[in-house]
Amino acid sequence: MSGALPNEHYAHALATLMVRTSATIISFGWTGRIITLFILPQKYYTASGNSGYAGIPLQQPAGELLMSNSHAYSIYAIELGPMENFVYLIHDRASDTAAVVDPAWEVGRVLDLAHEKGIRITDILLTHSHHDHVNGLQQVLDSSDAQIHLLKPEAQFWGAALARPTLHHGGERIRLGNTEISILHTPGHTPGSACYQIGNDLIAGDTLFVFGCGRCDLAGGDPEQMFTTLKRIRNELPGSTILHPGHNYAPAHPTSTLEQQVEGNPFLHFDSPEDFVEYRMHIHDRLRETPYEAVSRQQALDSLHRT
Ligand SMILES: [Fe+2]
Repeated sequence: MSGALPNEHYAHALATLMVRTSATIISFGWTGRIITLFILPQKYYTASGNSGYAGIPLQQPAGELLMSNSHAYSIYAIELGPMENFVYLIHDRASDTAAVVDPAWEVGRVLDLAHEKGIRITDILLTHSHHDHVNGLQQVLDSSDAQIHLLKPEAQFWGAALARPTLHHGGERIRLGNTEISILHTPGHTPGSACYQIGNDLIAGDTLFVFGCGRCDLAGGDPEQMFTTLKRIRNELPGSTILHPGHNYAPAHPTSTLEQQVEGNPFLHFDSPEDFVEYRMHIHDRLRETPYEAVSRQQALDSLHRT
């Protein structure tokens, strides 16, 4: 891929958590609520591997990645559109219902996948309101009775007249059959950006990419808020958390653990908000292009003084 700017820049131009494994407690609603989650062990699929949990086979239909598989749920990712967006389908096994995350682009492929598997789409989860994440929303609404979920500050920022919206504040849980989805308010890319936490999986939208993070210079962006958001993700989620980003900017595997991100994501290397803001707003886009390779802490700190 070429171009000096990450692809989400072009997307905008088109229009414009604390989990401990095993029955523990999280307080990552940013609202101080205490939530108890029961987490099932799971493994995940990447383009180069194939694994399953407890004998459940992972299959790899063309164009789809089975990103996570547990007794309770599966997460499928379909990469769609010119900006390498990931649209996710969270499938609850017990009820054969699903939530679609950020329906956009050739969203008919997601609907076809659900249909082939006999899955009924009951919910739509939006990480944020940028065009490249929502331009298939109406198509899903037209073909289902799905309920839209997003954060209230994002709805206010967006200003769209939405059908059947459920507005959240962060810290709530959505129940999808036997699967619980926790909503995290993660402002920075937009005022009401959300991440969705399912067991040990984190669907992160444009908040956190594999070795990158969302821009903060678009309308509603705030690099200081992003610094705080990423610090909380780093400090409050377990290192084993599997990241499912909103775009496929990864150099090889589309997913990563949070531990790997702490090691190689430059946006997690800065201790002061001033350094983070300087890097995010003035340095990063001049130094890096997608796909994003890992950056050591020393490399990130050195880049502050090289320009
Ligand atoms: Fe975005």
